[in-house]
Amino acid sequence: MNRKYRKTVIAGNWKMNKTPSETKEFMTQLKTIMPRGRWCDVALCVPAVCIPAAVRAMRETRVGIGAENCNPNPSGAYTGEIATNMLVDAGCKYVIIGHSERRAMGETDADVNAKVLAALEAGLVPIMCCGETLEQREAGITDEWIAMQIKLGLKGVPEEKIRKVIIAYEPIWAIGTGRTATPEQAEEVCENIRTVVRKLYSSKNARAISILYGGSMNEKNAFELLAQPDIDGGLIGGASLVPEKFVKIIEAANQPTV
Ligand code: 13P
Repeated sequence: MNRKYRKTVIAGNWKMNKTPSETKEFMTQLKTIMPRGRWCDVALCVPAVCIPAAVRAMRETRVGIGAENCNPNPSGAYTGEIATNMLVDAGCKYVIIGHSERRAMGETDADVNAKVLAALEAGLVPIMCCGETLEQREAGITDEWIAMQIKLGLKGVPEEKIRKVIIAYEPIWAIGTGRTATPEQAEEVCENIRTVVRKLYSSKNARAISILYGGSMNEKNAFELLAQPDIDGGLIGGASLVPEKFVKIIEAANQPTV
């Protein structure tokens, strides 16, 4: 983290977990134990049907609610899809884009790019995900792969909007496996992502953008991961489903930075 130049963001990704009633229960518990200090931004990205309950419960709080996907088109015949302006109207602030679980369902870099542009246009903060498979890591092509995902995902994002984008590095082999990247491994890739942004935009913009780590991040390993200079927060799956664990990760972001 580096609080001097950029925001620290602790974001939860609930994936396909919790009903609207369970959402209300979770938020009620979270509110009672939420730390008062404001050392980081806090986001919870929840299933679409849980958004109204989450927004209602967290209205007077500092927790921003987000969606887990969006459709890049403004409206039309896209059965089952949700447009960015609908998310904004429902009270969302964030939207996760290009999660590896969605890419595995066929989402391409071009789709990710269209969604990032649509989210920015609507005023949402896109949390754009990237990450390599174990095979790619072992083949030594992680850097090239991530650089390509970032370049294609950010295509056409204008200079004045790049600082609104949050990038999440999620090695696929670390998601839901309990096998976290070491702080050094995660730092190395996050640092590379910043270099790619620097080349595409400028040093100032690269310095200002928040890059999160995701993949089995939990209340035990968060402190060490967040101590890395280029890891500006976390995108947390499993551990974001338990209020006590999520709060411990928020607390881990309360540490001195460079
Ligand atoms: P886990 O924290 O459950 O490994 O999930 C990470 C993730 O995919 C967040 O988007």
